Amino acid sequence: MCGIIGYCGHRPAVPLVVEGLRRLEYRGYDSAGVSFVQSGALHVLRAPGKLAGLEKKLEDENVFSATTGMGHTRWATHGAPVEKNAHPHRDHEGKLALIHNGIIENYQEIKAELCAEGCEFRSDTDSEVLVNLIAKGMKLHGGDVMQALSWALGRVEGAYAIVLMSMDHPGTLWATRVASPLVMGIGTGENFFGSDIPAFLPYTRDVVFLEDGELVRITSGSWEVFNTATLAPIAKEVQHINWDVQAAEKGGHKHFMIKEIFEQPKVIRDCLLGRIDGGGVRLAELDGVPVPERLHIVACGTSYHAGLWGMYLIEKLAGIPVQVEIASEFRYRDPILPKGGLVLAISQSGETMDTLAGIKLAKQRGLPVLGLCNVVGSSVSRESDHVLYTQAGPEISVASTKAMCSQLTALLLLALYWGGKKGTLPAADCARMVTDLAAMPDVLDDALPGLRREAQKLARHYAGATSFLYLGRGMNFPLALEGALKLKEISYIHAEGYASGEMKHGPIALIDPDFPTFAIALDDELFPKVKSNLVEVQARAGEIIGLTNEGLDLAVEHRWNVPRAAGPLSAFVTLPALQLFAYEMADYLGKDVDQPRNLAKSVTVE
Ligand code: M6R
Repeated sequence: MCGIIGYCGHRPAVPLVVEGLRRLEYRGYDSAGVSFVQSGALHVLRAPGKLAGLEKKLEDENVFSATTGMGHTRWATHGAPVEKNAHPHRDHEGKLALIHNGIIENYQEIKAELCAEGCEFRSDTDSEVLVNLIAKGMKLHGGDVMQALSWALGRVEGAYAIVLMSMDHPGTLWATRVASPLVMGIGTGENFFGSDIPAFLPYTRDVVFLEDGELVRITSGSWEVFNTATLAPIAKEVQHINWDVQAAEKGGHKHFMIKEIFEQPKVIRDCLLGRIDGGGVRLAELDGVPVPERLHIVACGTSYHAGLWGMYLIEKLAGIPVQVEIASEFRYRDPILPKGGLVLAISQSGETMDTLAGIKLAKQRGLPVLGLCNVVGSSVSRESDHVLYTQAGPEISVASTKAMCSQLTALLLLALYWGGKKGTLPAADCARMVTDLAAMPDVLDDALPGLRREAQKLARHYAGATSFLYLGRGMNFPLALEGALKLKEISYIHAEGYASGEMKHGPIALIDPDFPTFAIALDDELFPKVKSNLVEVQARAGEIIGLTNEGLDLAVEHRWNVPRAAGPLSAFVTLPALQLFAYEMADYLGKDVDQPRNLAKSVTVE
C-alpha cells in the first residue's frame, strides 16, 4: 500500500527522504509528502499526483539543514487522492506529524469524540484522526510521547504502520506497526524506518524486522524497541541482508507475481477490516442502498471470473437473480435492465475502458452502479454511484492474482450482507461463514509454502505440454476459467477452461495422452459428477492433475491434496493453487512473468 520512509542522522534529511520515496514508487501512489523540523518549526509539504509534483514544490524551499525527516507516498484507502488527504498529517495544533499506512477501523467513533472536544479536521482521512488522538494522549500524559502513543494505540482498531515526529523533539522519530509492514535500518550515526527495505538500501543493509505491537524510538545514534502496550523494552536482532534493489522491491521474491500470490492472506484480512462485526457483515458504503431485485455484473478478464463466482454465491445466499456480462459485449448489446436492478462493475484498476463503457450504458438506462474496485479515485470509482473498495494495495504484476482474491472476499461479504438484509440467510449461517472467512488468512499462511512446492513439482513434469484443459463445476467453473487464463497469459501455453459437464459436448474430442487436464475435484456436492467427467477423460488416455481433498476417492495421475475449506471458502485455497501452477510453469520456462508479451496492466483502449 503506501510507501513510508523515516530518517534520523547526519545528512540533509529531505533530499534523502525524497530519494527513498522514489525507490518506493513501485508501490504506486496518488500523492506524496514530507515533513521535517527546521528552525524550531514543524514543516509539512505535500502534493497530489506523482513524486515530481512534490519535488517541484521543494525546489522553492530551503530544506537542507534538517537532519531528521519522514516521507510518504499514498495509496488511498480513505478519502480522495487530493492534497488535503496526502500525508504527513498534523494534529490540529500543528505540533505532531504522522505518516500512516493501513486502515483505522474505528476512526469515525474517535473522530466524533475528538470533534465534540473541539478538534478540527482538515482532511477526510483516518490518519488525521490518529494523530489528533495521539496529541490528546500527550495532554493526558504530561507531554510524554511514548505514553501518548501507547495510550492512543490501545484505543484504535485496525492495521497500521506509522511514523511520528514532534516539533518539540526535532532529532527523534517514533514508529509502530500492527499488520502492516515496517522495517528499521541501522546505520552508523543514522537510523531509518521504511515500509520496505528499498527505502534505505543504499545506506545500510543492517535491518531489524519489526513485529506487531512493537514501538520503536530512533535518534541518529540510538534505537530502542518497546512493547506498545506495556512499554517494556524488547531485545531485537539485527539482520544483514544481501538483496539487491530489485529483489528488495519484491520482498526478496523473484517476481512481483509470486510476491502478490503470497500477499493473499493479508489481502483477505485487509478487505475484512472494518467490515465484519461479531458474526455479521457491516458495509457502511451501502448504507441507504436498497437490496437490488436483480444484479447485472459487468467486468473483464480476471474480474469477470470473480463476477461469475459471485453470481453462484449471491444467487444462493441472497436469492438475488444475477447476470454476469463481459463488459465488451454488454456495452454493444441492447441489454434489458429493468428498474430495481443494480449494475455491479468489477475492476482492479478502475480504468478498464470496456467496463467504464458498461457503467455509462447502465447510467443512461437509469440503473444505479456499484463499483467494486481497488484503486481509490479511479475512473470506475468516480463514475459509480457507490463504491466498495477491495483494499488490496497496488498490484504490479500484469497477471492479476491478489486482486481476484480481494474481489472474491468482497463478493462473499456482499452475498452475506444482502442475504442478511433480505432474510434469505439465517444469522447463524452468516456468523459461521464470517468466522470461517476470518480464519482463512491463517489457513492460507500455513498452506502457501506447501502449495508452491507441489506446483513446482508439477510444473517440471508438465512444462512440455502445449495445451491444457481446465475443468470445474459449480463455483469451481469460474476458477477453472481463471486457471486457464493465468496459464495462457504468463506461460503462453494454450489452455481452455470448461465446465466439466460440458466437456462431452465438444472438447472431449481433443483428449489424448499429450493433452493434460487440470481438474478441480473438491469435497462438495458435485464431486461425484466431476469424478465421472474425469473417468471420461481417462477412458481416452488423458493425464489428469486432480486438485482435491484428502480422503476423496479419486484416482488420477497427479493427485494434489489441498486443505479442506467450508463451501465457497474453498476458492481461497483453489485460487492460489491455480496461480502457483501457472507461475511455476512460466518461471520454469523462463518467461517474462511480470510483464508477459502483448499485455498491459490497465486496458484503457477498446
Ligand atoms: O483492472 P481490471 O480488473 O478492470 O482488469 C481487467 C482485465 O484486464 C484483467 O483482469 C486481465 O485479464 C489480467 N491480465 C488478468 O490477469
